[in-house]
Amino acid sequence: MTWRATVLTLFPGMFPGPLGTSLAGRGMERGLWSLEARDIRASATDRHRTVDDTPFGGGAGMVLRPDVVDAACAAAMSEGDTRPLVFLTPRGTPLRQPLVRELASGPGAVLLCGRYEGVDQRVVEARGMIEVSVGDYVLSGGELGAMVLLDACVRLIPGVMGAAESAEEESFSDNLLEYPHYTRPAEWRGLRVPEVLLSGHHAEVARWRRAQSEAVTRERRPDLLSTEQRQGPAPRAPLHSAASPA
Ligand code: ADE
Repeated sequence: MTWRATVLTLFPGMFPGPLGTSLAGRGMERGLWSLEARDIRASATDRHRTVDDTPFGGGAGMVLRPDVVDAACAAAMSEGDTRPLVFLTPRGTPLRQPLVRELASGPGAVLLCGRYEGVDQRVVEARGMIEVSVGDYVLSGGELGAMVLLDACVRLIPGVMGAAESAEEESFSDNLLEYPHYTRPAEWRGLRVPEVLLSGHHAEVARWRRAQSEAVTRERRPDLLSTEQRQGPAPRAPLHSAASPA
């Protein structure tokens, strides 16, 4: 079964972009996943193809209209399409590996990319969208966030990564950052690779790597060691439950 990604955007020309190269691009060529970028503007109904309007309550910027976004969602999803709808927004829940795993193990995803100030919240709720942020900074639109999310999902699709690139022992698989890596030459500019890695003692290597992982995580990301992080996020509704209309 092909993992299906549909992106709703005002800038379909941004796709596939980097997703057409490397691991993701090869996986797409081999039919392991598919990507369709759809222009939200195609769902506008007036002759000016208007997609946005000024915010009620005042303020700067423009807001994507709920009727246009809803029509774009309807056009992208056929009857019985169970793919979760993800809205990329800096207001969203931070993207973490458990959500990536959950999305990657499903049928695919429909990704809504905001531009301007945002999207009318009614359609976000009526469509039961999952609001996701890719980090605590503001991008000029959701497109790069969608690419980040898709890249993270696609590499987990069976067959996309070769045996050489194991997804097992890497950052976040155990809520720890990864240990440092070294290769030949064993001495470079007078800097030697840690001796334990040359010892051939597999158990000692494993112990050293674990200690390195724990030390770098304590140093850079103490938040990952908190009980809340370790036990996973608070329960949330299954990905395909749709909110009911008002
Ligand atoms: N759109 C703008 N900023 C974003 C962010 N940080 N994450 C997801 N979508 C965004």
